[in-house]
Amino acid sequence: MLRDARAEDLADIAPVFRAIVEDGETYAYPQNLSDEQIAALWMEPPPSRCIVAYAVDGTFLGTAKTGPNRPGRGDHIATASFMVAPLAQGRGVGRALADEVLRWAREEGYTAMQFNAVVETNTSAVALWQQLGFRILATVPRAFRSTRHGKVGLHIMYLEVSGSRGASTS
Ligand SMILES: CC(C)(COP(=O)(O)OP(=O)(O)OC[C@H]1O[C@@H](n2cnc3c(N)ncnc32)[C@H](O)[C@@H]1OP(=O)(O)O)[C@@H](O)C(=O)NCCC(=O)NCCS
Repeated sequence: MLRDARAEDLADIAPVFRAIVEDGETYAYPQNLSDEQIAALWMEPPPSRCIVAYAVDGTFLGTAKTGPNRPGRGDHIATASFMVAPLAQGRGVGRALADEVLRWAREEGYTAMQFNAVVETNTSAVALWQQLGFRILATVPRAFRSTRHGKVGLHIMYLEVSGSRGASTS
């Protein structure tokens, strides 16, 4: 089940956030963040949105956040980030979260979605985003220090979602 995150979901989000960041392969967030710091980074208020996924038995499966990639005159392009609980990975949770994020972006009228920093060695993520139609615009060389691969590139990935936000240029 996917739904908007509530404050109490932080208790499920924070351990998964820490485990994924400490693994050192996918996100350039600092380690050892407090729950409050994680909430500020991940559970952003509107116009952003944080989504959580739970199994029917209440097991936490993962989370995504989405919203404008830039404020002001850049807020017609969305961005998003995803974290699936390590034990739940490879079972379709990431794809379900991404489908919902893209559905919401279209509903909200965003014109495109941009991922700013996809680690090039994160093959499952790159494959999933490409399956959904994202293309790699550029790769910032040696921009991420991977635990297992050393300095690797960060892809900027992009998908048009054909909304009309910002059509008046204001
Ligand atoms: C990347 C991530 C969001 C994908 O979510 P997931 O639930 O594990 O992936 P899914 O089960 O939905 O798989 C979707 C697709 O990803 C790809 N994929 C998943 N696991 C893969 C693997 N081990 N190797 C290669 N491709 C893989 C496949 O294309 C798969 O589609 P398919 O099942 O039709 O072949 C998730 O693994 C995750 O949170 N990883 C850690 C944090 C992260 O990397 N976040 C994204 C940063 S850009």
